[in-house]
Amino acid sequence: MKQSPRNAIPEFGDIPPDVLRKHLHEVADWIADYRENISTRRISPTAKAGAILKALPASPPEDPDPLDGIFADFEKFLLPGVVHWAHPQFMGYFGSTTTGPGILAEMIAAALNVNAMTWRTSPVATELETVVLDWLRQWLKLPNEFSGVVYDTASISTMHALAVAREEASTSVRTLGLSGRSELPIFRIYVSDQAHSSIDKAAIALGLGEHNVRKIASDSEFRMNMAALRDAVVADLRHGFKPLAVVATVGTTSTGSVDPVTEIAAICAQYQMWLHIDAAYGGGLAVLPECDWVTQGWSAADSLVINPHKMLFVPFDFSALYVSDIQRLRRVFTLVPEYLRGDAAGAEINYMDYGVQLGRRFRALKAWMVFRTFGRIGLAARIRDHLRLAQIFAGWIRDDALFELSAPVVMGVVCFRFRCPDDAESDRKNAKIVETINAGGEAYLMQTKLRGRVVMRLGLGNLLTTEQHLQNVWKIIREAADSQS
Ligand SMILES: Cc1ncc(COP(=O)(O)O)c(C=O)c1O
Repeated sequence: MKQSPRNAIPEFGDIPPDVLRKHLHEVADWIADYRENISTRRISPTAKAGAILKALPASPPEDPDPLDGIFADFEKFLLPGVVHWAHPQFMGYFGSTTTGPGILAEMIAAALNVNAMTWRTSPVATELETVVLDWLRQWLKLPNEFSGVVYDTASISTMHALAVAREEASTSVRTLGLSGRSELPIFRIYVSDQAHSSIDKAAIALGLGEHNVRKIASDSEFRMNMAALRDAVVADLRHGFKPLAVVATVGTTSTGSVDPVTEIAAICAQYQMWLHIDAAYGGGLAVLPECDWVTQGWSAADSLVINPHKMLFVPFDFSALYVSDIQRLRRVFTLVPEYLRGDAAGAEINYMDYGVQLGRRFRALKAWMVFRTFGRIGLAARIRDHLRLAQIFAGWIRDDALFELSAPVVMGVVCFRFRCPDDAESDRKNAKIVETINAGGEAYLMQTKLRGRVVMRLGLGNLLTTEQHLQNVWKIIREAADSQS
C-alpha cells in the first residue's frame, strides 16, 4: 500500500463539508450494497496469519491522504480480512444481530460522538438509557425494583454484579481491599460446568481467585444439578469457606441449556448467597409469550445480565446488567472526581456511578431504534423463526443415521456429531469437518466439547437466514462429512 503525498485535505480543521457529504453518500451506498449482496461473499477470509499486517505500512502516515485512496485501500487490503458475521450462512456463536436500524443508529451515534459520563454531558444519552433499560426490564418481566445499567459485554456486567456480592458479604473491601485481611473468609462462587468463562475472569479480576469458582456437575440436559450444588455448599461451609454467590445460566454457551433458577434461588436464600443470572444469550426468549418459562425464578435474583446483542438484534456491543436495588451497585462504585463535581451535583442519574467505566458511548440509541423498528412483536416473530429453523435442523440430524444430536435443542443452538464408533477418531473427524466447512467460505460453524467429546455446533440468530440457507448449510455439512468417511 502506497501513501500519496497529495495535499487534498486542508491543513486545519475537518475535511470540507462537501467532501464529507460525497463520502457519506458513497459509504451509505456501500453499506446498502454490502447488506443486499452479502450472501454472495465468502464468509471467512483466505488470508494467512500475518498477511494483512505485512501488506500495511509499518510507519505511520506523514502526509495527508485523500479519502478516495483510503477507501480503495480499505476494499483492497482490509475487507479481505473480514469474517462476514452478517452472512446468512454464518452460523457460528449465536449468529449475528446486524440489522438496518442498528446500522443507522451506529452512524448517527458516530456523528454525535457524545460521552455520556454524567447526565449533564449529554442528558439524552442518560435518559434514553433509562428508558430502553426499563422497556427491556418490562419485556423480561423483572419486578419494578430492578433497574439497570448498560455496559459493553456480559463479562463486564457479571464482574460488577459479583463486586457488589463481595462487598455485601464482607463490607469495606471497597475501602480496605482484600490483601492482608486475615479476618476475611475465603469466598466461593458456584456455577455449572457449562457456565461461561467470564465468571472465572470476574473472580480473577475481583481477587476472589479462579480456584474459588466451583464447577457444579450438570445433569443429562446440561443443567446445574441441584443435589450437587447443595452438597458443594454444605461441604464448603464445613471446611470454613464462605459461600458467596451462585451464577445460574439461562442459555449456556455450548447448548443453550437453562439452569433450574427457582431451585437455585431457594438454595441461595437458605445459605444467604447472591444469585446472579447469566441470561446473556437466553434472556432474549422472554419476549416470546410462549417462552414465559424462561423467566421463572428471576424475581428472586439479586442481579441479571442480558446481552441484547446476542438475541435481540441490537448491534454489538450492548449488555444490560439489572440489580434488584441498583443503589447496591452505586454504593460500591460511586466516586466523583473533582473535575466532574459540577457535572454530577444534581439528583439526576449519572451512569458513571454504577461501574468502573467513566466515559460511555451513546449505546441506548441503537437499542431504541431497533426496539422501535421491530416492536416486541417483530422481535418475537424473528426469534420464533430461529427456533423453528433450529428444530428443522435437529429433525434432519435425527433422520440421518450418519449423525446424532449431542444435546437437547432448547434455543437457536444445535449441537450434533458425525457418528464414529471410536471416540478419538470421532473427535478428530468432527473437528476436521468444522475446519473444512469454515475454510470453504460458504458456511461457518463452531465446534465445542460436551462431556469431553468434540461436537459441532450451529447457532441461529441472523434475521437474513432462511430455510433455504439452512438447507445449503446442511448440504455443505454432509459433503464435508462424506469427505471424512
Ligand atoms: C452464556 C454467556 N455468558 C457470558 C458470555 C460473555 O459474553 P461477552 O462477550 O458479552 O462478555 C457469553 C459469550 O458468548 C455467553 O455465551
